[in-house]
Amino acid sequence: MILVTGGAGFIGSNFVLNWLAHHDEPVINLDVLTYAGNLENLATLKHDARHAFVHGDICDGNLVLQLLRNHKPRAIIHFAAESHVDRSILGPEAFVQTNIMGTFRLLEAARAYLAESDDAIKNSFRFVHVSTDEVYGTLAPDDPAFTETHRIAPNSPYSASKAAADHLVRSYYHTYKMPVVTSNCSNNYGPYQFPEKLIPLIIHNALAGKKLPIYGDGLQVRDWLYVIDHCTAIEAALERGKLGETYNVGGCNEQPNLVVVRTLCEILDQLRPRASGGSYADQMTFVADRPGHDRRYAIDATKIMRDLGWKPAETFATGIRKTVEWYVNNSAWVSNVTSGAYREWVGKQYGGAAPAAPAGGKV
Ligand code: NAD
Ligand code: TYD
Repeated sequence: MILVTGGAGFIGSNFVLNWLAHHDEPVINLDVLTYAGNLENLATLKHDARHAFVHGDICDGNLVLQLLRNHKPRAIIHFAAESHVDRSILGPEAFVQTNIMGTFRLLEAARAYLAESDDAIKNSFRFVHVSTDEVYGTLAPDDPAFTETHRIAPNSPYSASKAAADHLVRSYYHTYKMPVVTSNCSNNYGPYQFPEKLIPLIIHNALAGKKLPIYGDGLQVRDWLYVIDHCTAIEAALERGKLGETYNVGGCNEQPNLVVVRTLCEILDQLRPRASGGSYADQMTFVADRPGHDRRYAIDATKIMRDLGWKPAETFATGIRKTVEWYVNNSAWVSNVTSGAYREWVGKQYGGAAPAAPAGGKV
């Protein structure tokens, strides 16, 4: 079996669902269920004996060690993190705690477990660390895309905490021979993404008749990857990744935020035309820029494509349409996750009174 951390979040839950759709190998899913973790994402696995959910914190080293001793997973796939840049600007401490200390505790538990294990376990075990392209900092418009040897230069508390975790993971390989593989992926989109991140927030606000906030001039560029393509890259890293290596993962799909938002509005105009007429694009509003906002991210995914034979299955056109359709068809999921805590956050981030509870939402 494999041990997944953060498997009730956006990418983790897509990973678990996709894994069990293609393998019979069981999954233990360790997640503390922050605001971003949601067991509803895994509702289809409720009666599936291959999935065991453990409600717990990756910072609890004793718990992690017990799980490793009891279940002897062949790998840890480490997703658990605080993941939202804007939240890291308002409150960095949780990012230091979970992303740095949490990764440290996991590494320590894995080290203790391997020290008492036989060679068969030592030789087959993998620690797959899921990280982000944001550790490389920002690019100018004409700079080449990030390769794995790009200097690490994080600019937000989120990316700094992920970079620190990446460094710890790297050091455990070199110092303790921990069998680690790290992936650094670009922006993901797809089902089950919490509506604080750009794409689900725009869809949610558009359908709710609210403003669509564009930070600064909206010309910041991100390299968007459909979430299942990220999951297949992590599987490739697990099964074929070279120990101690990092792999950049991206969709070769750079888009300025304005283009992403306009694309979402066009698809929504087709799927759910506004009752009042006009386009959802009429709801676009320029707002104050994010402090320290990285201008451009772009991934050079040559290494993982060449060495591990991975490539994305979705184009942006197919992935984004699927995604909008999913949100339109799963409005109950959106209502449930946009709970009281979410409304408090939106009030803090975008100013003014927190929006009212959506119909059917938890209060
Ligand atoms: P998410 O915020 O949607 O989910 C994070 C999950 O981790 C949640 O289920 C949460 O409950 C859990 N968690 C948080 N703290 C925990 C703790 N102390 N113990 C146990 N569980 C805890 O994040 P995501 O977007 O799914 O990202 C998953 C990973 O992928 C993160 O490490 C992130 O840095 C990385 N990543 C994300 C993206 C992206 O575009 N979302 C891109 C590249 C890399
Ligand atoms: P986000 O989804 O938060 O991902 P990240 O900051 O990790 O790249 O944001 C994606 C881009 O969209 C980023 O340039 C910030 C911008 N953005 C907005 O313009 N408005 C918003 O309301 C949000 C959440 C993000």
